[in-house]
Amino acid sequence: MRGLLVTGTDTGVGKTVVSAALLAAMAAAGERVRAHKPVLTGLDDAAPSGWPPDHELLASVTGMCAEEIAPLRYAPAASPQLAAALCGERIDPAHLLASVPADPGRTIIVEGVGGLLTPFADGYGVRELAASLGLPLVVAARPGLGTINHTLLTLEAAKAAGLQVRAVVLTPWPERPSALELSNRETIARTAGVAVAELARVMAPQPDALARAGARLPWRKWLAASAPPQPAAA
Ligand SMILES: Nc1ncnc2c1ncn2[C@@H]1O[C@H](COP(=O)(O)OP(=O)(O)OP(=O)(O)O)[C@@H](O)[C@H]1O
Ligand SMILES: [Mg+2]
Repeated sequence: MRGLLVTGTDTGVGKTVVSAALLAAMAAAGERVRAHKPVLTGLDDAAPSGWPPDHELLASVTGMCAEEIAPLRYAPAASPQLAAALCGERIDPAHLLASVPADPGRTIIVEGVGGLLTPFADGYGVRELAASLGLPLVVAARPGLGTINHTLLTLEAAKAAGLQVRAVVLTPWPERPSALELSNRETIARTAGVAVAELARVMAPQPDALARAGARLPWRKWLAASAPPQPAAA
């Protein structure tokens, strides 16, 4: 499977914005793309920021329908495991894995849920899904205070499972970064020996604005080590 799994250091750190920017930039460059969000929770919560819900933003940059992107959707704003339980359901890891579209002609961006250790079921979370899919990670992280610890913990958790990490993406990266933000970027890169990229602030959830911001991320390099796309079956 050619693609990336975009995880984050926390919920609300920019996974969807990073995923949408990558998808928009890839699509603008002629790449055939798909988005996938394994489980969407908090469906009934109004977005405080004015940005659309994850599956709708990802639909806007891929041309897919939102429900196809996120087949499992729950109203409670809780971990996927708890949100499902509150709705009288249980997430089956095999079913979750099978719901990820395996289209060899397309590049897939899977947006994780919460952080890397967020559970879908006992013993099976985002980290296990990434391992099952064999997708390398991109880690969305805040640029400011607290990000060193959260990011290094996430990278350690990825390493412990043998997952490849293509990069950390600090988002939204300010036009004029402070000394703290510059130091955070350098400290994470040096301590973990990982590539650290920045995603500029995208002013509005528009595909062209997302594509411009995403085009500055080295996504071709991140995909290069993945399986090449195969021509779609006739
Ligand atoms: N590059 C950016 N440009 C503009 N806004 C950003 C950027 N990165 C993050 N944000 C802001 O952060 C908010 C949270 O981002 P996002 O929804 O992508 O987080 P998330 O990690 O996907 O959250 P969830 O865990 O709910 O899926 C956005 O609604 C937006 O306001
Ligand atoms: Mg999201």
